[in-house]
Parts: sequence; structure tokens; C-alpha cells
Amino acid sequence: MDKFVIKGGIKLSGELNTSGSKNSSLPIMVAALLAKGRTVIRNVPDVNDVKHMIKVLEYLKVRVKFNKNILTIDVPKKLGYIAPYNFVRKMRASYYVMGALIGREGKVDVSLPGGCAIGERPIDLHLKGFRELGCDIKLEKGYVKARCKKLKGKELFLQGTKGSSVGATINVMMAAVLSEGITIIKGAAVEPEVSDVANFLNSMGAKISGIDTPVLKIEGVENLKPTEYTVIPDRIEAGTLLVASVITGGELFLKKCNPSHMHVVLEKLKEIGYKIEIGKDNIYIKSSKYLKPVNINVLPYPFFPTDMQAQFISLLSLVDGISIVSENIFEKRFMHVPELIRMGADITIESNKAIIKGVKKLYGAPVMASDLRASAALVLAAIAASGESEIRRIYHLDRGYESIEKKLRKIGAKIKRVKE
Ligand code: UD1
Repeated sequence: MDKFVIKGGIKLSGELNTSGSKNSSLPIMVAALLAKGRTVIRNVPDVNDVKHMIKVLEYLKVRVKFNKNILTIDVPKKLGYIAPYNFVRKMRASYYVMGALIGREGKVDVSLPGGCAIGERPIDLHLKGFRELGCDIKLEKGYVKARCKKLKGKELFLQGTKGSSVGATINVMMAAVLSEGITIIKGAAVEPEVSDVANFLNSMGAKISGIDTPVLKIEGVENLKPTEYTVIPDRIEAGTLLVASVITGGELFLKKCNPSHMHVVLEKLKEIGYKIEIGKDNIYIKSSKYLKPVNINVLPYPFFPTDMQAQFISLLSLVDGISIVSENIFEKRFMHVPELIRMGADITIESNKAIIKGVKKLYGAPVMASDLRASAALVLAAIAASGESEIRRIYHLDRGYESIEKKLRKIGAKIKRVKE
């Protein structure tokens, strides 16, 4: 298992490129199954979750090549229909094969994903959507077994107690594109990654309208054709890199990003006091001496993303005054906090709120990563801290950040990957 050794306290400044979105790439890879033939997907980040999804596709008898961020997916006439426990256990997003295989084959067995480090994560909304479209769903021996003839379009409401669901919206949309008639998804998630999948499906010949709104209209089509597509930039990687520079007092020119997907994050950075200039596909950020605390309410898009919550807690740990971060999507998503406290942060958790009292300094320490974004938060704290930190279990980071240590090194960080 690898660990990072980071010597902190160095100003990080320079220019970086943003990679493609992991959370778009994963469902888009699966959506490619909906058309026989060769689909080419560009700007796919070279991260372990993508490599894992390649294995899932290969298990379903699909030929996949991945080279220099370009995925070539050759989808055969006959596909497998089982996603076993071993795949889903390692990556929840494997469950996207449900939507695509229900849509194409009318048959799929997928192991049920369990909870994960950020809490209980049910899939009731996914199943509700499939059932309402006419799928027979059974839960047997830890597997979801879905069987259906031709799905029939219908009006569905896909929100749960926590609001809209990215995964359920994408999964049900993939199932519906080849159905008979019109499906209306009300309460659809409006995250840019949902729109990216919808645009990808349209490029295959699907008829989805209402993209970027909570009401998606899907007119079923007879079949889809393979396509070529470029995925959107990763707004979470972009946000993480911006924080990496200013948490150390530096400045960054971030290229190949999409600032229009990052509105609230950029507003919060401005509110703290950082100087920001926004271009069409780039962002310049510069640190400032005059920083003030902010309150953040984590909610589905277009509000503040849960996937940037941990990184902002690291940042706000070093901003004088009291900041409050309320997590309303994954209420237990504070695994990074005890580790940040070990580095000198002053944070109290009260129910779904982190109350952060800014400290003058963080101190390097050995810490343990627990999930993808928590690991990013620890790296940010470590590059800002004085002294050396060791971050264990960085396989979490490798799941979702492309060449993170190379990118950080390029702007001046002293970060080493060490085999344990
Ligand atoms: C996706 C992202 C993840 C991000 C999250 C929220 C991927 C691979 N992952 O996860 O990085 O943190 O969106 O932006 O894209 N819920 C239910 N029932 C369901 C489905 C979800 O109650 O059937 C709840 C969840 O527990 C959570 C909330 O709805 O509280 C939102 O979850 P959802 O948007 O589905 O997250 P994911 O798609 O799993």
C-alpha cells in the first residue's frame, strides 16, 4: 500500500490543467453499452475508478482500450448480464450497469452495494424508477435481479428524503432511452455530470430534453448508434487544486476547467477573501492576507457540493474566526475531521454541522485517509502544515484524482509516494 510523505508550508503557485470528470466518465462508459459497435470517449481521467469500470465492462464481454485519456469501447452483439459482488463491493458506481443492461437486454443481476465510509447509501430510488418503468425486481442473496420485456415510458418522481439523486437519475435515464413512449423524470438531479450523460446519450441518437433542469423528458427510440464524445472537466478536481494553491498562500492559473459548473465554490472562495478572475475555460486565483470565515450549506447542485466539503474544512481550519459547514447530503461525512484535529485543527462536530475555529497553524502528523474526498482534505492540510506529514491509504485518492502528486509537484509541493 502506498503512502504520501509531504513536507508542508511551501507556497504552491503556477499553472495546471484540469482532468476530465470521473463522475461523468463512469456512467458514460456504461451508457456506451446501449449501442453495438465502437464508441470513443475522450478526456477520460486516468484514475483507478475508471480502470475498475473497464474491468466491469470486460466482464460483460466488452473490449476496451484506454490510452492517453481516450477510451475505445467495442460493444458486442451479446453482452453478459451479471455484475458480481467483487466488482460492486470495490466501487459502488458499478451499479450503473443496471440502467444500461435493463435498457438493452431487459435482464441484469447486480450485487447490492453496501454502505460505505461516508454512510448508509440506499438505492431505493433507482429500484423505484426501474419498477415504475415496468421492470420486475427481486432482491435475492444479496443481488438485485431485474427482468423486463420492453419498458414503457411513464411519469416518475425520483426524489427521496435527501432530495434528488445523481445515481438514480442517471441509472433510470439510461434504462428509459430505449423504452416505448415517453418517460418524464421529475425531481431529476441537475448536476453537470447528469447533463453530460444525457448529452452523450443524445449523441448516440437518444431523445432527451429538459437537460440541466429537474424535469427530464425522454422519448424512447428503437435503437442507438455508437458515438464519439468528450467528457466535461472535473469540477471537483478543479476546486481541490484551487484550494491547494490558496491554502498555502499561493496563486494558480487553472486551465481546461468549466467555471460555470463551479459557481458556488468560486463564490465561497471570493467570500473568504481570495482574488478570483474567471475566464471561459480557466480560473486565476490568488491568496490574500485578509480572510474571513464563511458558512457553507452543502446541498445538491447548483448549491455547494458535498464532494468539496472536506477540502473546504481544511481550508477554513486556517481562516481566523468561526466557520460552520452543514452537510445535508451525507450527514456522517466527517471522517477527515478527527485526522485534521490531530494536525492541530479546532473543529467540533454537532450532528450534521462542523464548527470550525480557525487556527494560526496546522502541524504535520501521520494521518489515515478514509475516503476519496477526505483523503484530498488531508493532502491539502498537509501541504499547508508546518513539518512533515504521512498520509496512509492513499489508494482512496488514486480512485479519483489523476496524477495528483505530479500536479502538486508541478506547482512546487514537496510530496513523495512511498511504498509501505
Ligand atoms: C454521486 C457522486 C458522489 C457525490 C454524490 C452527491 C458518482 C459516482 N458519485 O453519488 O461523488 O458525492 O453524487 O453529489 O457520481 N439516496 C437515497 N436513495 C437512493 C439514492 C440516493 O436515499 O436510491 C440518497 C443518498 O443516500 C444521499 C442522497 O440521496 O443522501 C444523494 O445521493 P446521490 O446523489 O444518489 O449520490 P450518488 O449518485 O451515490
